[in-house]
This record gives sequence, structure tokens and C-alpha cells, in this order.
Amino acid sequence: MLTIDEAGGRVILQRADGTRAEHALDTPDAFEAVSAAWLRCGWDVKYVYGFSWMGRPIIQLPEDMIRIQEVIWRLRPDVVIETGVAHGGSLVFYAGIFAAMGKGRVIGVDIEIRPHNRVEIAAHPMAPRIMLVEGSSIAPKTVATVRSEIKPDETVLVILDSNHSQAHVEAELEHYAPLVSPGSYIVACDGIMAQVAGAPRTGADWTWNNPLSAIDTFLARHPEFTADEPPFPFNEGKVRHRVTYWPRCYLRRLP
Ligand SMILES: C[S@@+](CC[C@H](N)C(=O)[O-])C[C@H]1O[C@@H](n2cnc3c(N)ncnc32)[C@H](O)[C@@H]1O
Repeated sequence: MLTIDEAGGRVILQRADGTRAEHALDTPDAFEAVSAAWLRCGWDVKYVYGFSWMGRPIIQLPEDMIRIQEVIWRLRPDVVIETGVAHGGSLVFYAGIFAAMGKGRVIGVDIEIRPHNRVEIAAHPMAPRIMLVEGSSIAPKTVATVRSEIKPDETVLVILDSNHSQAHVEAELEHYAPLVSPGSYIVACDGIMAQVAGAPRTGADWTWNNPLSAIDTFLARHPEFTADEPPFPFNEGKVRHRVTYWPRCYLRRLP
């Protein structure tokens, strides 16, 4: 149980295991406790299903979008590959950053690109920077199509936001990691699954059947990658940790 004692300026956390913590409201620990509760409550009320970007629905926690924007701006990739298109909001988000940078394109992969989404994405001002590939992200034909679109000297960033089961993310990591440029990242989204297991719309197996398990297996096999959360480029506040649906998601290819 989390109690916010506004008058007393503190947060009291009574955990299921019987332990108790108390933090002053102006501490990062208090912020983390409140954020964890906010993320869980946000899951239950489908908070991330309430946003759009330049007219297209985007199913993301806004914090994660601001953070990945920081990475894209610093890295200045030539290509973002994203698996999991849905309505196309995140593709438009990445394409919009590229438009502002005057370079870059986005390849979006989805097992099913619904006709109305395809029409809307094709008619969008960012469409010239977006290519759609329909097919399972781990089907050899899909992977070959994506690979054929990448030129040898291009800087590539990969974002995995399709099926988030351990087996699928593991397979995606194996297929797409070779496309990632040294110094760039493969980002395995939605490790939040482990944190919200037991909540509405979750599976009993989410404690282990999630992207974090896939990341652990992948990293054990691939010393050329390291879990490396990009530092905040600007931080005059006290908070040191992300509020995120994508914990431990950034895997950097060593230069
Ligand atoms: C969470 S949504 C993507 C959200 C999108 N990136 C955004 O930010 O708005 C997940 C998408 O993954 C797609 N998907 C599920 N299984 C897939 C697979 N095997 N290969 C490719 N896409 C898949 C679904 O069709 C769905 O559109």
C-alpha cells in the first residue's frame, strides 16, 4: 500500500512482504515509489492508449518517446527499423524527428497492416520517410526484405515493439541485432510486463515470458552487445532513473 501524506510531506510504502519504507516527498526515492504506483495504475486504466502523434494514434508512454528522441538526436541514425506498427504513430514520431534533422528514414514491420492504417500512413506528410513491410517480423522473407533496404555504411537503430513474448523477442534480437551499427542500439520494448503481471489484461506467465528474459538470454550469447541505458543528456533535477515501460531495454552494440 502506498500512502501519500501531503500535509506531512512524505510517502509511506507498506509492501506485501511486511516491510515498510518512508520517504520525504522531495526525494528521488519518493518519486520512484509514486512512479511505480502510477505505472501500475496507468496500466490498469490503459493510460498509454490515450495519445496520438501528428494525427496518428501512438501506443507508448510519453516518457519513453522523449527518452528515445534524445537517443535519436544524439546518434543521428540513417535508419530506424521498428517492428510493431499498429496505427503508425511511433513510425510518424521517428520520421518527424528525421524530418527535423533533414536526414533519415523509418522501416516499419507488422504482421498485419490494416488497410485503413496503411491509407492514413501513406497520406501522412511524413510518408516519404516511411516504408512499410508486412509479415511476421521473424519470418526469413521479412528479415531479408528489411536487410535488403539497408546500405552497408548506414547507421541503424532497431526498436522491437511487436509480439513481446520471450521466444518472439529472442528471435527478433537474433535476426535484427546483426543490422545494428556499432555504437547504436537494439531496443526491446515493454519489459514493464514483468512489473504488471497479475494486473488486468496480463498473463500468469508474464513474470518470465517477457522481453527482459529474452534480453538476458541474448546478452549471455552476444558479448558484442551490452545493456546500456543512455544517460540523460540534461538533468538539473534529482531523478536519476527513468519512468518507463521499457526497463533495461537499450542494448548497445560495442564499437
Ligand atoms: C504494441 S503494437 C505497436 C505499437 C506501435 N509501435 C506504436 O507505438 O504505436 C504491436 C504491434 O505488433 C504487431 N505484431 C504482433 N505480432 C507480430 C509479429 N509476429 N510480427 C510483426 N508484428 C507483429 C501487431 O499487429 C501490432 O500492430
